[in-house]
Order: sequence, then structure tokens, then C-alpha cells
Amino acid sequence: MKKTILIITVLLLIVCGIGVYQVLANQNKEVINMNDKKVLVAYYSYSGNTEALAKQIQGMTNADLFEIVPKVPYSKDYNTVVAQAKDEKQKNFMPELISNGDVKEYDIIFVGTPVWWYTMASPVKTFLAKNEFAGKVIVPFCTHGGGGASMTYSDMQKLAPDAKVLQGFASYERTAKDSDVADWIKSLKL
Ligand SMILES: Cc1cc2nc3c(=O)[nH]c(=O)nc-3n(C[C@H](O)[C@H](O)[C@H](O)COP(=O)(O)O)c2cc1C
Repeated sequence: MKKTILIITVLLLIVCGIGVYQVLANQNKEVINMNDKKVLVAYYSYSGNTEALAKQIQGMTNADLFEIVPKVPYSKDYNTVVAQAKDEKQKNFMPELISNGDVKEYDIIFVGTPVWWYTMASPVKTFLAKNEFAGKVIVPFCTHGGGGASMTYSDMQKLAPDAKVLQGFASYERTAKDSDVADWIKSLKL
């Protein structure tokens, strides 16, 4: 009996501890003042790294979130995707998306991508080509496997020539610290 009470007490303490930790963690999450601008975070992610960064940015800017999803999903086999992406880059192929999204109501659009063959992933090209960015601000971000952003930001500017493309943020895989992401967003003075 004593043992059961002890186990229940320990379990209750653990549950309470997790609850308190979550409350404190949320309190520490920084929300950056976007001066009443309407903000969208649009991203494509093949294996989850860019999605994680997109959600960090969204949490700090109270933005809407839009996932860019190709109509035909990429293979789960990594090497197949690497070969396909190389071919798509050479042909400047832009795959159809389930939805092109709509940036009309937004002032600032964060656009996130994994780096594929030194530039943005093909579905992100479609998203940029299919939307109208005149008068809008694009804030690029990317995750990569060690090679950095490469041509990602300048290629985004080429696909959205009428947008003002600001300084991007590049993270190795899933290593972006909240504090670094927040410092970058604040430095843009949006
Ligand atoms: C098709 C393909 C091409 C890639 N090309 C590059 C590259 O040129 N430079 C680089 O640093 N990483 C490259 N990577 C690694 C990815 O950019 C990196 O793993 C990224 O964090 C994946 O993001 P995700 O999980 O959002 O898909 C490539 C990965 C794939 C699948």
C-alpha cells in the first residue's frame, strides 16, 4: 500500500513538473512586435528541418502559416529525391502544388526552403512564380546540410522581381536557436 502511494506521489510530481516547465517555456517565448503588419510564413520542407524553423518564426511573429505542398509527393527514398531534384533544377521544373496559396492580404511573407542543389527546392519556385509580390516584402530563410544558403536568396529575388527581398536566415539542419532567430528578425526592423 505504502509503495503504491509512493509511486502515485512520484507520478503526480512528474506530471506537475512537466506542466510548470511548459508554462515557463511558453512565458520565455519571445513575441516580436510586427507593427500591425500582416505576416505570412510560407515554407516547403521535405524532411522536417525547414518546418521546424518555420514554426519558430511563426511563434515569434504571430504570423499565419502556409505549407507549400507539391501535388505529386516526392519519394521517401533520399537518393531518389536527390537525383530528381538535380534533374528538376537543370530543367527549371516547377511542380504543381496542391494550393498556390495567396499572399494578397499580407505585407510581409517569410519564405522558407531546404537548400536543394545550391538553391531553393522546386516547390518553392512554383510558390514564388504563381503569386504576385509587387509591393511586398519577402524574408527568406533556409535550412541546409552544411553548404549554406548558396544561391537561394538571389534566386528568390529573380522569381519575385517586384518584391523587396530582405536579408535571409540560414540554419544547418535543425540547429537554429530561438535567440538567434529572434535577433535576426529584430535586425530586419520590419
Ligand atoms: C535533393 C536535396 C538536395 C540538397 N542539396 C543541398 C545543397 O546543395 N547544399 C546543402 O548544404 N544541403 C543540401 N541538402 C541538404 C538539405 O538542405 C538539408 O538536409 C535541409 O535541412 C533539409 O530540410 P528539410 O528537412 O526541411 O527538407 C540537400 C538535400 C536534398 C534532399
